[in-house]
Amino acid sequence: MARGTFDYMAGGADDEVTLRDNVEAWTRMRLRPRVLRDVSTVSTTTTVLGTEVSCPILVAPVSYLRLVHDEGERAMAAGAAAAGVIMALSTRSSCTIEDVAAAAPGAGRWFQVYLLRDRGWTADLVDRAVAAGFRALVLTVDTPVLGYRRRDVLNAFELPEGITMANVASRVSPEVAEAEGLLAAYQAPDLGPEDVAWLAERSGLPVVAKGVLTGEAARECIGAGASAVVVSNHGGRQLDGVLATADALASVTDAVGSDAEVYVDGGVRRGTDVLKALALGARAVMIGRPAVWGLATSGAEGVQAVIGHLCFELRTAMALAGVRHPGEIDRAMVDLRSHPQ
Ligand code: FNR
Ligand code: LAC
Repeated sequence: MARGTFDYMAGGADDEVTLRDNVEAWTRMRLRPRVLRDVSTVSTTTTVLGTEVSCPILVAPVSYLRLVHDEGERAMAAGAAAAGVIMALSTRSSCTIEDVAAAAPGAGRWFQVYLLRDRGWTADLVDRAVAAGFRALVLTVDTPVLGYRRRDVLNAFELPEGITMANVASRVSPEVAEAEGLLAAYQAPDLGPEDVAWLAERSGLPVVAKGVLTGEAARECIGAGASAVVVSNHGGRQLDGVLATADALASVTDAVGSDAEVYVDGGVRRGTDVLKALALGARAVMIGRPAVWGLATSGAEGVQAVIGHLCFELRTAMALAGVRHPGEIDRAMVDLRSHPQ
């Protein structure tokens, strides 16, 4: 893949401290396995917002997937559906909402919302997602403005000819739409609690607030009407120097209790990472870059292979840790000295 594209996908904000720490924080954590448990059948099946999934893994919203594969978001949706999991489609998708729905008919899909300054445009996107059968809105709350991505600046990265924000492009002239800066200009810097309630009411769908790192922020989102939160720092692409998500997770799940589902993303690379996330109270993880690399390598099949392998690793880790299904995983499985809480 072209250097600029790779750096756009792989890179983070500023000095990439959080980007690195996301991966390292999962790696630092140690597990406490159980023994003398019958693990002849282990199931990774669970539900997210009431939808059954083959394993507690969701595909995170990632912008402009046609940068890495011609079929872009359509192949990502097909691969996720084949693996039995849910994909969240980015507002910055390079395929249309309707094309993505058609690529994986019947599959559970969520739509990620970047609130736009023009609430009318936002409403239009949301209405289209509802009409196309998306089952939840993922409202990203950590991006009122875009983080400073030094790699993209050094590479003078621009979207190549033909790759656009397919769902918003028709609203603006193509020249303007193709400038990466554009949606940043159209994205609302004044996103507030009232927007959460508005989205829920407009769509009739559950709203998942993506991008909290503290119990306080999670409570605010739930108070504003969110049905779930994602502990996320946007894969280290927004505010650099924040907590790694593995380190932030327990304080959020403690603050939320049973009031909402909690998911986590950032640096999840192994089945053991997923086990650790569930032990700290997450219902599921999201993966961003690993799914992108699968897509880049071999389209929908690559996506399915990445998810399938991660799920296999999780099943193996569960058996070795003495648990038969996600409901049996609890906080006692994480060593407190390796993970002070
Ligand atoms: C993202 N992410 C993201 N999030 C979001 O809410 N809307 C978006 O459009 C994007 N776009 C995007 C592009 C690229 C290239 C990356 C790498 C990430 C963040 C994404 O949903 C998720 O939070 C992180 O990718 C999770 O971290 P890992 O799994 O990539 O380490
Ligand atoms: C990203 C989102 C903002 O590049 O598109 O992280």
